[in-house]
Amino acid sequence: MTRPALPQHGVSWGRLKPRMESFAEGDFDWRAGRLALYVFDAGDEVRAVAKDAYAMFMTENGLGPAAFPSLRRMEDDVVGFGLSLLGAPEGACGDMTSGGTESILMAVKTCRDYWRAKDEAKRTEIVVPQSVHPAFNKAAEYLGLTVKRVPVAGDFTADVNAMAAAVDEHTMMVVASAPCFPYGVIDDIEGLSQLAIDRDIWLHVDACVGGYFAPFARMNGVNLSPFDFALPGVRSMSADLHKYGYAAKGASTVFYRSAALRKYQIFRFGDWPTGDMVTPTLAGTRPGGAIAAAWAVMNYLGCDGYRDKARIVVETREKYQRGLEAIGGFQFFGQHQLGLLAFGSDEFDMHAVSEGMRDRGWMSAGVREPKGMHLMLSPGHADVVEDYLAAMAETVIEVRAGERVAVAGGGARYS
Ligand SMILES: Cc1ncc(COP(=O)(O)O)c(C=O)c1O
Repeated sequence: MTRPALPQHGVSWGRLKPRMESFAEGDFDWRAGRLALYVFDAGDEVRAVAKDAYAMFMTENGLGPAAFPSLRRMEDDVVGFGLSLLGAPEGACGDMTSGGTESILMAVKTCRDYWRAKDEAKRTEIVVPQSVHPAFNKAAEYLGLTVKRVPVAGDFTADVNAMAAAVDEHTMMVVASAPCFPYGVIDDIEGLSQLAIDRDIWLHVDACVGGYFAPFARMNGVNLSPFDFALPGVRSMSADLHKYGYAAKGASTVFYRSAALRKYQIFRFGDWPTGDMVTPTLAGTRPGGAIAAAWAVMNYLGCDGYRDKARIVVETREKYQRGLEAIGGFQFFGQHQLGLLAFGSDEFDMHAVSEGMRDRGWMSAGVREPKGMHLMLSPGHADVVEDYLAAMAETVIEVRAGERVAVAGGGARYS
C-alpha cells in the first residue's frame, strides 16, 4: 500500500462528507441493532443532545478550569451525580476521565502510591477474578505492578475464598466487577468487601459497565446485591459514562471514598519554564466536548429517563434469553440481571454459531472460556429481537447438521 500523502490543496467539506459516508458503508450497522458490542446507543434524541453539547464545547479544554469554569461546573455536576447514584458517603470525590481504561489506570496508580506513602511499597500485586477487564493488566504493566488472576466460581462470579487464599503481604488491591464483561454477572462484592476489611486491602469495584445502569435497574425492582460504596470495604470505583451513561465516547468517572485517598491520584510538577502543572488524571488536554455531552445527556435523561432505558434493556435481555431457550441447546453463563448476556452450548460449537451469525450480519463478542457468545444490549435491540432469534435458529440448524464449522480459527477476540 502506498503511503497516503496530505492533499496539496484543501478539499471542500461538501466533497469530504460524502467520502466519509462512503467509508462508513463497510462498518457494521449498529443503528439497525446488528452490533451488540462497542456501541451503547439510547436512540436518535439522546444522540442528538450529546452531539450538540459536544459540538458546543468541542474546542474548550478541561485542562484549564480557570479559563473554562463552565467545564469545571459541568464536571462537578457529573461527578456528583455519579457519587450519589453509587451510594458514596459524604466526603467522597472523583474525576472524569477518557474511558474505563483511564479510570482503572488512575485507581491502580492511586492505590499504589497510597501504599508507598504508608511505607508499604512491597504491596505491588493486584488480585482479581479471571473475568476482570484487561485494563487491570494494562495498568499493572504501565505502573510496574503484577496481577494475579484467580479462576472464577461455578456461577462465573469471583471466587471469594480462592481470592482470599491468593492474597498475601504483597497484595495492594483486590478487584470486583459490577458486572464483569465476559459473563455479564456481578461478583460477590459483599464477600470481597469483607475480605478487604479483614485484611486491610484496597477494594476497587469496576462498574465501568454497570455504574450507570445497575442503580436504575435496582430502582426498577431488579434484586441486586450491594455492589457500591454502600459496602464499607469499597475504596474506589470506575463507572463509564460512554457506556450505559449514553454519553459521547471519551467519558468515564473514577471515584474514591475520600479525598484522603484521591490525593494520591494528583500529578504535580513545577520544574519547567511555564510553572506548576497540576492534573488530576492521566490526560493533559481534556476534551470539553466529552464533559459537556455527558452533562447534557445526564440532565436530559434524568433518573426517569435512565430508568426507562434500563427497563427496556432488561426486558429485551429477558426476551433474548427466552428466545434462545426456545431454540434449545444453549446454557447461560451465570445469573444475568443487567444488559449483558453470555451463553454457550454443550451440544454444538459456539464459534461456528458465532461465525454463522456474523455471516448473516449480526456481530457480537465471543467468549473463550467456556466457548460462547456475548451480547451487550442497548435499548435499540428491543426492535430486532425477533430477527436476531430467527437468524440464530437458522444458524443452529446449520451447525447441528454439520453444514457449518468454525473456519476462522474459532478463537474469541475482543479487539
Ligand atoms: C468491565 C469493563 N471494565 C473496563 C472496561 C474498559 O473500558 P474502556 O473501553 O472505556 O477503556 C470495559 C470495556 O468494555 C469493561 O467492560
